[in-house]
Amino acid sequence: PDVSLIRSELLAWYDAHARSLQWRAPPGAGTRTEPYRVWLSEVMLQQTTVPHATPYFHDFTRRWPTVSDLAAAPDAEVMAAWAGLGYYARARNLLACARAVASDHGGVFPDTEAGLLALPGVGAYTAAAVASIAFDRAANVVDGNVERVMARLFAVETPLPAARPELKRLAAQFITDDRPGDWAQALMDLGATVCRPKSPTCGLCPLTDQCLGFAGGTPERFPIKTKK
Ligand code: ADE
Repeated sequence: PDVSLIRSELLAWYDAHARSLQWRAPPGAGTRTEPYRVWLSEVMLQQTTVPHATPYFHDFTRRWPTVSDLAAAPDAEVMAAWAGLGYYARARNLLACARAVASDHGGVFPDTEAGLLALPGVGAYTAAAVASIAFDRAANVVDGNVERVMARLFAVETPLPAARPELKRLAAQFITDDRPGDWAQALMDLGATVCRPKSPTCGLCPLTDQCLGFAGGTPERFPIKTKK
């Protein structure tokens, strides 16, 4: 697979097919979504799908328009608003992070991956996602969608979870200073809508000419999972 060709094909696809998420700046618009909204949506989306998270995102941003508003909210109100999104531990982490941003950073999110990673409750995925989407930093954003797309493009025979470091390295070679936030979201959109876990719609995929999984005839075989 040709890395720079894949980049240009997928970014062109994203320009035409990006899901319009309310918190997402349109591709190529030259505008960026506020870090607070990016962070909030990414934490919610680790828990659930875009359609399920969307009303929660609206409710949170209406009630707490800034990270400092969220930081000042009583725990019980935030927990109640989170109900239905699952794992309260995430809501607790969300509040701890909001309060750290409000009290230690004057209500302004750090603008680097390392700075974000130092916030309480912010893990590798969230730090990379916010750094790339909100601040256009060249961060390697790897979630399950990205792992699946890489496993298929490169027909990775190593099973999960052992394949994780390899998949992360494969994803890393695509990261450049050119449109890193759009790149991350293009991969995630492709994984969610085309390169789906079951019955991928390869007929709609811009990358079939570069995909070793497709060339082998059974792309849905990847990523390989160890039998339990
Ligand atoms: N899943 C998690 N974050 C996402 C994003 N920013 N765009 C598309 N899918 C996502």
